[in-house]
Amino acid sequence: MENIKKKKATAAEGLSRIDGRMKVTGKAKYSAEYNTKGLVYGVLAGSTITSGTIKTIDTKAAENAPGVLAVYTYLNSPKIPAYQDPPATAKGAFRIFYDNKIYFNGQPIAMVVADTFERAQFAAGLVKANYDNSTFQTDLKSNISAGVAHGKDYLRGQEDAYKNAPVKIEAEYTLPTDVHNPMELHAIIASWDGDDKLTVWDKTQGVMGTQRSIAQTFKLQPANVHVISPFVGGAFGAALRTWQHEIAAVMAAKALNKPVKLVLTRAAMFTSVGYRPAAWQKIGLGATADGKLVGITHEAAGQTSIYEDFTEGVVNISQLMYACPNVNTKYKLVSLNVNTPTPMRGPGEATGAIALECGMDELAYALNIDPIALRIINHADTDPQSGKPYSSKFLKDAYQLGADAIGWKNRSMKPGSVMENGWLVGYGLGTGMFGAYRSSATVVARLLADGTLDIQTAVTDIGPGTGTAMTTIASEVMGISSDKINFKLGDSNMPPSPTQGGSSVTSTVGSAVSDACVALKDKLKELGGVAEGGPADFAQILKQHNLPQIEVTVTSKPGADIGKYAMYSWSVHFMKVLVHPTTGVVKVDKAVSVADCGTIVSPKTARSQIIGGTIMGTGMGLMEEAVIDHRYGRLVNNDFANYHVPVQADIPQLQALFVNKPDPYINPMGAKGMGEIATIGVAAALANAVFNATGKRVRDLPITPDKLI
Ligand code: MOS
Repeated sequence: MENIKKKKATAAEGLSRIDGRMKVTGKAKYSAEYNTKGLVYGVLAGSTITSGTIKTIDTKAAENAPGVLAVYTYLNSPKIPAYQDPPATAKGAFRIFYDNKIYFNGQPIAMVVADTFERAQFAAGLVKANYDNSTFQTDLKSNISAGVAHGKDYLRGQEDAYKNAPVKIEAEYTLPTDVHNPMELHAIIASWDGDDKLTVWDKTQGVMGTQRSIAQTFKLQPANVHVISPFVGGAFGAALRTWQHEIAAVMAAKALNKPVKLVLTRAAMFTSVGYRPAAWQKIGLGATADGKLVGITHEAAGQTSIYEDFTEGVVNISQLMYACPNVNTKYKLVSLNVNTPTPMRGPGEATGAIALECGMDELAYALNIDPIALRIINHADTDPQSGKPYSSKFLKDAYQLGADAIGWKNRSMKPGSVMENGWLVGYGLGTGMFGAYRSSATVVARLLADGTLDIQTAVTDIGPGTGTAMTTIASEVMGISSDKINFKLGDSNMPPSPTQGGSSVTSTVGSAVSDACVALKDKLKELGGVAEGGPADFAQILKQHNLPQIEVTVTSKPGADIGKYAMYSWSVHFMKVLVHPTTGVVKVDKAVSVADCGTIVSPKTARSQIIGGTIMGTGMGLMEEAVIDHRYGRLVNNDFANYHVPVQADIPQLQALFVNKPDPYINPMGAKGMGEIATIGVAAALANAVFNATGKRVRDLPITPDKLI
């Protein structure tokens, strides 16, 4: 009785993070913390110019500095096997220590390896280079016209139909470069065992992806590259691929025949592991007088590097969000002397939602229709792009839940008309959507003689609490308490699982965990031990049959149903802001984020995921901007003192609400992803709330006080 009571209480509020205690006590080991025997330390030195070539490079002082084992540059670096092959794309590639070309400021030109980190860092400062400078461009805004069309333009119905609509708006929005800035710095320890085998402890979102990529680069058998990453301190997309610092560490470890540790500095994080690219967007929306959308035109230009194209679906959201007969979109890339961008939470959509959802707000004022009502009028009942039915969509419920919780009825339609204690008050909302994905994953599940259940798969947990969600799923399917379950992840020797990205892991890996538990129960049934409905004493069954354990390995992939439906997760973010009329300071007074993402598997970590996304979106809307001094092509705020992210004092009451209705088609749990929709639409909600408070439409993010006075 006691136990059942305890279990019920836990089920209602959800399991606490299974690794929470390890994380707060420092027991959880992150990539930089594996102090393998004989470890030596690598530190990178970066280019001080933005474009050109290295004329001379003097490494003598560094080589002679105490404790230094080696200094690598393009002149003496061991040959990296795959870098002897031509690059895969015409644009080329950035290959570390490959030649004397400089593509961007901060590009690594040397790596010092020493017996301590401090000595390596000191010596890295002694590397001196002379350069031949070339001209460069680092400013997206002044180079929009140099953009090159990427992908096919999209057209549904008539082009630019908004222009002839009875009511229309047209506006340009710009977003600067935002940087992921996870708490944990990117770090790798590489350790070779002979000529063709190695182990790496690496910050990565996918141990299998890192394994493949290092194996390809060094021309090894993938099975000979063991990648270990059980804890990741945030990544948000920055660890989706293998970067050049990782290749450098593996190269040096081989050359020195010693394990090499390389941890990026915070400043190097700004130029080494991608970012959300600066973007320019133009949105045109047209509607009938009663608010029915007639046309949407959405154009965007995104920043990329001169050596590699990075694209994201900035304009896709305008093809998908609303029922509208005429939609056309264009997307182009502007190549600049910067490092290559990478996906960052809600890649594409988070940027696109600013233009679309601020545009919808502008249209609502032009029509004098409530912004929620305008969205309901244009609600898509089937996928406007494919015509397919949705697997599930309860977005209208989400609008209702959020409107009630924020107190939308207190919003005045007249901007700048409400004051509270000397502050202007405004309400705004932004809608988010992102594909709900599921791929293939394999898990091994072992029921042991003591009745505990061991589950393993090679997925990583970059912070959302994957282990907690998987334990919850296993506990429910097996009917045993969560403390009997040991879920292990983050090791390429475990059964294959996907990279943690695109909000797809709970859906993908959760399905495999669920299927494996069902398979285990089937085996137990064959042994005659599982009572229908009630919990069973599994240890007793194993004992009766004299079995040390029962094991199943199960691969789960989506079924045929998946192609019949359009599968998306939805969110609505509501903001109440206060704006100081004299100083232009914006305070978030209250935020409510509502997610329609199917069944909530793990309530506590789901809440944490949503409020984390709201906070990240708040940074995007109000604070974050990587500033380059375009005279020199160099970042001026590559640290936490000057690159502002929201801190505790910036974040008031945050409410995460869930529609929590299962999706019948995506997976056994009925759960869709929520990582991306947590951020998509937040910045737009803030911009719209600021307009409601002040009557000022800031179309150049972030909305810093100077733009409001
Ligand atoms: Mo996410 S941007 O797929 O890590």
